[in-house]
Amino acid sequence: MRDKHRSRTAEVAAGARAWHLLHETPIVFRDPFAIQFTPRTWQVILKSPVLNWLMLASKTFDWVYPLRAEILGRARFTEEQLEKAIKAGIDQYVLLGTGLDSFALRRKDLPSSFKVYELDHPASQTAKRSRLAKLNIDMPKNLEFVPIDFEKESVADALARSSYSKERPCFFSWLGVTMYLTREAIFSTLRSIAAYAKPNSEIVFDYMIPKEFLDPFDMQMMMKIERFVARRGEPLVSSFDPHTLPHEVCDLRFELVEHLPPTEQQKRYFADRSDDLRPASFYYFIHFRLVE
Ligand SMILES: C[S@@+](CC[C@H](N)C(=O)[O-])C[C@H]1O[C@@H](n2cnc3c(N)ncnc32)[C@H](O)[C@@H]1O
Repeated sequence: MRDKHRSRTAEVAAGARAWHLLHETPIVFRDPFAIQFTPRTWQVILKSPVLNWLMLASKTFDWVYPLRAEILGRARFTEEQLEKAIKAGIDQYVLLGTGLDSFALRRKDLPSSFKVYELDHPASQTAKRSRLAKLNIDMPKNLEFVPIDFEKESVADALARSSYSKERPCFFSWLGVTMYLTREAIFSTLRSIAAYAKPNSEIVFDYMIPKEFLDPFDMQMMMKIERFVARRGEPLVSSFDPHTLPHEVCDLRFELVEHLPPTEQQKRYFADRSDDLRPASFYYFIHFRLVE
């Protein structure tokens, strides 16, 4: 992403969560803070049923459904896995590339001993913090912000500047980020987590598969998303073969917990809908646990 600019795709993700809660049912993922995080002009569009109808009816925006399904599905999957980890005793959560994720604000029910670390690009994080200040939102005491550029710094070095405990396992999420990073930054981040985090730590992330794997319809859809994000200064950079990625990550001291291809996402989170909200064939979710 561009060095001095906040992430626009993070605003798109918040907009997608806001739109879903305002206009769609059944709810896949509930984020009541998303609407406040979206820029004012977006708020007007999101709240207008006529503008919404025009957007959805227009062929130009047919790629918006699969993009929104990815944003909602990955958040739902991650927080389901996180919930299980919390029940099993994990009490640290690191959101890598947090963007406008509102987990810490939504989960004030968690004890103050449960620590949340938001790691994000400095430009995005500064913008989020000033938005939070403007909104006068009471900040949870268990939340810490840690700036990082994954292309330039290791997660271990960033976490070493916080109260993160190396002595306890942690749950990491990395949502909507790998596609914007170089392969080197992705693998050095995973290596850093493997070296720094305690065994039994977990990570969930999403990734895109290469264009060449797609049929012509899905390839068109992906190229529309590619143009949309590139225009916002965040070009798609990395994609992975779903047959080889799990092995590559397991070589770093992880074990695969679950791999969720779009067909499974559809069955689990989007079955029985009467609208067109369904996953695209090119976004995969994956969950690993760190072993001894
Ligand atoms: C599409 S947003 C996803 C935000 C959030 N995780 C979500 O699911 O809504 C991409 C996020 O990745 C972050 N990001 C992109 N490149 C980065 C980098 N090199 N270092 C740190 N963060 C980065 C952006 O700041 C942004 O918050």
